[in-house]
Amino acid sequence: MSKPPVLSNIFPEATAIPADYADALPCDSRQYLVGGELRAWGGPTQEIHSPILVRRGAELTPQRIGSCPVLDGDTGMAALDAACRAFDNGRGAWPTLSVAGRILAVEDFSRRMVARREQVVRLMSWEICKSLADCGKEFDRTVDYIRDTIAALKDLDRASSGFVMQEGILGQIRRSPLGVVLCMGPFNYPLNETFATLIPALIMGNTVLMKTPKIGKLLIFPLMECFRDAFPAGVINIVSGDRDMLAPIMASGRVNVLAFIGTSRAADAMRALHPKPHRLRCVLGLEAKNAAIVLADADMDQAVGECLRGSLAFNGQRCTAIKMIHVARERVEEFLAGFCAGVARLKVGMPWEPGVDITPLPEPGKVAYLRALVDDALAHGATLVNPGGGAVQDTIFTPAVLHHVDACMRVYHEEQFGPVVPVASFSSIEEPLEYVSESSYGQQVSLFGSDPDRMAALIDPLVNQVSRVNLNSQCQRGPDSFPFTGRKDSAEGTLSVHDALRAFSIRSLVAARNMENNKTMLTAILNGRKSTFLSTDYIF
Ligand code: G3H
Repeated sequence: MSKPPVLSNIFPEATAIPADYADALPCDSRQYLVGGELRAWGGPTQEIHSPILVRRGAELTPQRIGSCPVLDGDTGMAALDAACRAFDNGRGAWPTLSVAGRILAVEDFSRRMVARREQVVRLMSWEICKSLADCGKEFDRTVDYIRDTIAALKDLDRASSGFVMQEGILGQIRRSPLGVVLCMGPFNYPLNETFATLIPALIMGNTVLMKTPKIGKLLIFPLMECFRDAFPAGVINIVSGDRDMLAPIMASGRVNVLAFIGTSRAADAMRALHPKPHRLRCVLGLEAKNAAIVLADADMDQAVGECLRGSLAFNGQRCTAIKMIHVARERVEEFLAGFCAGVARLKVGMPWEPGVDITPLPEPGKVAYLRALVDDALAHGATLVNPGGGAVQDTIFTPAVLHHVDACMRVYHEEQFGPVVPVASFSSIEEPLEYVSESSYGQQVSLFGSDPDRMAALIDPLVNQVSRVNLNSQCQRGPDSFPFTGRKDSAEGTLSVHDALRAFSIRSLVAARNMENNKTMLTAILNGRKSTFLSTDYIF
């Protein structure tokens, strides 16, 4: 069984912070990017503190890491104007640029971004307390995503670089941009998940207004110059602010696509502001409460290892995390023993420490929320199976493993998005199946077992409840070429390298009756390279 970790000295002396990690601070910026200009904001700014507390003498205080603008509604609207001007109802230089031209700009941006890697990675780690190693992986995964997006767009363009002839009509069918995209990413993947919508939106010819994530915003500031220098004026505009800035933007009705990763409550509130919601395409990544189902014939070491990583990687702060575990009653004690032994081996510490697993939580009020979830479960009959679990030291919350969790407890339904692991045992498979079908969410499931007949009989109904069934494997988004979506309140639209290009574009075609005058004109347009849409050029 696990031993309670010693937390009283978990936060460092100022002198114990590695110099290269500390050197990234502070990041004080007043910049925002509008119409190709980096402007300096003269209004109020937000002070940003890390969830890491630092000891200075007898004092233990959150480390100040920087500040950034809190833009007002007028400034937000100026940024929206710039994006609308650059799109210019589809006549702008960017939406009419060739695919090859847009690819060159994105490649240029990627090169500039890579040169800022160390600064971005460190700022991300300070602000969201993801381990330095994992922040590096997030950065590299994002650069790979950009490279793969370019490759996928080349494929798409090659496939549509010819004409079709049907029923005496000639046509060229391509994908066109949708207009102005408002792009907002989450705190847990502030770079990757923001860029997983931003880059496809840009490369398809849309213009973008990007709002920095609520938490995890400082890392965007070193990239502003890269955006300014790689893209034409107004194609990408970057603002930071709160609801006062966002509300007029949505209420203007001039946003064509809302690309948002966060809560359904926030997404619904923004969508409701749009005066013509049918003109707004939403690409949304929302809540999830992914279940693991461990059958009686599961390989227990494998199930324990996958559930451990699946529920507690980055403190459980992943939308894809396993957030409820159902174990066959005859194996539950074995599962819990292995799981708690694994939890006891997790290293609690600061994000720069090699091998660290559990780090401070960045969301204000999160520790109190998790404590309340655990207390509610205990009050309703759950048991804490790892002694000392759920210990709190300021922004640190150690993993709490709860057994006998049932429907009368909040943690059975609510997305904890943190290091609380609820476990229930079942005697009939109907119990976890009902959990999945009754859930408000429908992103993924992990299914652990070995009998092909039994597994197949569960796979078939589960794929109709969630969007991905993971066999003897944790839930996850990757590989990024796989479709990432969800049912019910978990998502709208599908993202993957390939699907995202579709999400941010619409099929458009040029058609002409197969007559001599039309053929002559089309030939002249093609041979004279007079159009970027009507083109048979092949991108190598
Ligand atoms: O927070 C949700 C992320 O999309 C999860 O991605 O499964 O790669 O951690 P991941």
